[in-house]
Amino acid sequence: MSSILLLTSSPRAESLSTPIAVDLAEKLKSQNPGSVVVRRDLAANPLPHIDDLFTGAIRKPAEARTAEETAAVKTSDELVNELLAADTIVISTGLINFNIYSSLKTWIDNVARAGLTFKYTESGPVGLATGKKVYVVLASGGVYSQGPAAPLNHAVPYLKSVLGFLGISDIETIYVEGLAFGPEAAEKAIDAAKSRVQEIALAA
Ligand SMILES: Cc1cc2nc3c(=O)[nH]c(=O)nc-3n(C[C@H](O)[C@H](O)[C@H](O)COP(=O)(O)O)c2cc1C
Repeated sequence: MSSILLLTSSPRAESLSTPIAVDLAEKLKSQNPGSVVVRRDLAANPLPHIDDLFTGAIRKPAEARTAEETAAVKTSDELVNELLAADTIVISTGLINFNIYSSLKTWIDNVARAGLTFKYTESGPVGLATGKKVYVVLASGGVYSQGPAAPLNHAVPYLKSVLGFLGISDIETIYVEGLAFGPEAAEKAIDAAKSRVQEIALAA
C-alpha cells in the first residue's frame, strides 16, 4: 500500500500553499487506489520544539533511555516512522522571512535522527530515508524561482540540503509566487500551480 505524507505548515486561514498541497495529495491518492494520505497539519497541531531532554535522549540507544527520555522521543519516533513509510511526501510552506514556516522546521528537527533517518559512516553521513518523491509547494509574495531575488530563497536550497542529507533527492518545487504583485499576478500564479498539480496527478 502506498503512503502519501502530507505536511502543511501555514497558520493562515487564507493560506495559499495549503489548499494546493491538499489538492495534490488528494489527486495522487485518487490516481493510486488503495493509497493512504497521512496528514500532519503542523500549524494547527504544532510539534514540540526539541529541548535538552530530547537532544540528550536521541544520542543514547533506545534501551539506555530513562522513562522520561523515552517519552521525550515518542512523538519524534512516530514522525520518523511516518516519514520512512511514505512513498510520496507533499510539503507546503510559505516563504517566511526568506525561509520556511518554523512549524515545518520543527518537524525537520524531529525527524533528523542519527541511526534512523541518517547514519554516520567512515566515508561520511548516509541518508536512510531513500526511495521517496517529494513535492514542495512554496507560496511567496515575491518571485524567487528565478531573477534578482533568487539568492534570497533560502527555503528551497535548505529543504533540498536537509532532505538530501536524509537520503531524499527527488524533489520538485511548485512555486506559487509573486502573490504580492497584485490580484492579476496572484491569480496567474495560483492557476500555474494548479495546472502543474493537474499534470503531476495525470502522470502519477
Ligand atoms: C511573517 C511573514 C513573513 C513573510 N516573509 C516573506 C518573505 O520573506 N518573502 C516573500 O516573498 N514573502 C513573504 N511573506 C509572504 C508569504 O510568503 C505569503 O503570504 C505566502 O502566501 C504565505 O504562505 P501561506 O499563504 O501558505 O500562509 C511573508 C508573510 C508573512 C506573514
